[in-house]
Amino acid sequence: MPAVPELLAAAVEQALNGPALIAPCANPQFGDYQANGVMALAKQRRQNPRQLAAEVVAQLHLDDICELPTVAGAGFINFRLKPEFVARQVTAAAQDERLGVPLAKPVKTVVVDFCGVNVAKPMHVGHIRSTIIGDCLSRVLRFLGHRVITDNHIGDWGTQFGMLLLGWKQYRDDGALATDPIGELLRLYKFVHEKPELRDAAKAELVKLQQGDPENRAIWERIIALSQQEFEKIYRRLGVTFDYTLGESFYNPMLPSVVAELQQRGLAVESDGARCIFFEGQSAPLIIQKADGAFLYGTTDLATLKYRMDRWHPDEIIYVTDGRQQLHFQQVFAAARKWFPVVPDLRHVWFGAILGEDGKPLKTRSGDLLKLDELLNEAEERALAIVTAKNPELPAETRRHIARAVGIGAVKYADLSQNRTTDYVFSWDKMLAMTGNTAPYLQYAYVRIQSIFRKAGGEPSAGDITIEHPAEFNLAKHLLRFPETLQAVADDDKPNWLTAYLYNLTGKFSTFYENCPVLSSAEPTRSARLRLCRLTAAVIRQGLYLLGIETIPAM
Ligand code: ARG
Repeated sequence: MPAVPELLAAAVEQALNGPALIAPCANPQFGDYQANGVMALAKQRRQNPRQLAAEVVAQLHLDDICELPTVAGAGFINFRLKPEFVARQVTAAAQDERLGVPLAKPVKTVVVDFCGVNVAKPMHVGHIRSTIIGDCLSRVLRFLGHRVITDNHIGDWGTQFGMLLLGWKQYRDDGALATDPIGELLRLYKFVHEKPELRDAAKAELVKLQQGDPENRAIWERIIALSQQEFEKIYRRLGVTFDYTLGESFYNPMLPSVVAELQQRGLAVESDGARCIFFEGQSAPLIIQKADGAFLYGTTDLATLKYRMDRWHPDEIIYVTDGRQQLHFQQVFAAARKWFPVVPDLRHVWFGAILGEDGKPLKTRSGDLLKLDELLNEAEERALAIVTAKNPELPAETRRHIARAVGIGAVKYADLSQNRTTDYVFSWDKMLAMTGNTAPYLQYAYVRIQSIFRKAGGEPSAGDITIEHPAEFNLAKHLLRFPETLQAVADDDKPNWLTAYLYNLTGKFSTFYENCPVLSSAEPTRSARLRLCRLTAAVIRQGLYLLGIETIPAM
């Protein structure tokens, strides 16, 4: 079924003969939706915008959908939906397994590059944002019907392997390696790194690896496998999967030909012995090969881009990393546009830092960067304490299951509900609060609606939803905004549109439930209201799923 903005857009575009640009009204006093397209077209056509808007309104036949549209301001057209229309639409959404969300047309192929942890280093809180945001965007795009390819571009190649190889060969502790592989790898790395007298020996190990020495390659593969095993545990806890894990090393054999091609085409030039791509109006070039012959991060990203274009022909590629890589991606994208006649829509979806309550990057008590598995453990423990206090009678196994969903959900939601480009302060108390814009609050709202069905003796049969009360009307209109919200998340790469939507949804549901008796109403109102409850629960559940958060039967 088409969503409301599409229905309005189709009508306006026919009358206007141009893009309607339908958006929700910022102020509900003026209506539910507005068309913003008139002004630009009027300017183009040298017409008075208010007059053009009035002409469009005169041609519209939307009596089925809304009250008579009004012209406002510089030439906006405002629409106020009719209750009968909203009732029909929510009735259809309630019977639709996609909850009224239409499938995207056209379907796009989108590569989502996220997580990208570096091998042999513990995955720390800095990586959690990429993983959580990338997973959410992938879920939303997939649900909208796009062809999504998730690719974990791990850092599995580079100078750190010289130190790791030397450490592995001479200073390895097999016992520690068995119990805490990443901890031991990190110790080896630091041990060698801190000793300048070992630098040459480490460099020699790296050169041997690069030249294909079988022993060093075998150790390198072991190190990657050990790291991957540990990362897998965290992905499983987070419910995150990847279609591909093509790390930096995968592209290594392609780098010489990438540089050669860019040089042949005159796009890369020599500067102080290094090979660089210069950009007009910018002093900093992208270096793709150093004077000593070494390739760089950007070289790998150019090879990766070419590979993805050849293999998947994507319409879009989304890179999810922290904000410090902005210049890197600007340069890589600019280089790609010089290199290829047509490039996919390349988007760097960047995010700010997670800060401790002292406003500095989040640390453990001992001062190290907090490790991700420790953070998830603490989230589950804190959630378990809350669940146990609320429901001491539940079996331990059930309480643990709930605590997992609540604890991990709280961490994810705290991240996704931020405007991703700002830094945010990590606060256990805030993210686990049962009130406010948090995962536990939404999970609890879902549980409460389920308990209505238990009291009602089951879920309602399929049938009409009717609208009698203003609170019912507001809730229903908000339910119809689920499709456009998901579209906005996809357009702007902003999961916080979805968290804000869900939070508002539960608020509107509470107002409805306070003002509109459900269980004590007579039929057919009782069933109609139960259907509205059911659709609300289904949208919360689907919304949380798209954020990567589980719903639970009790709390
Ligand atoms: N390994 C990188 C890091 O930890 C992230 C990789 C992001 N993806 C990419 N195609 N460069 O910063």
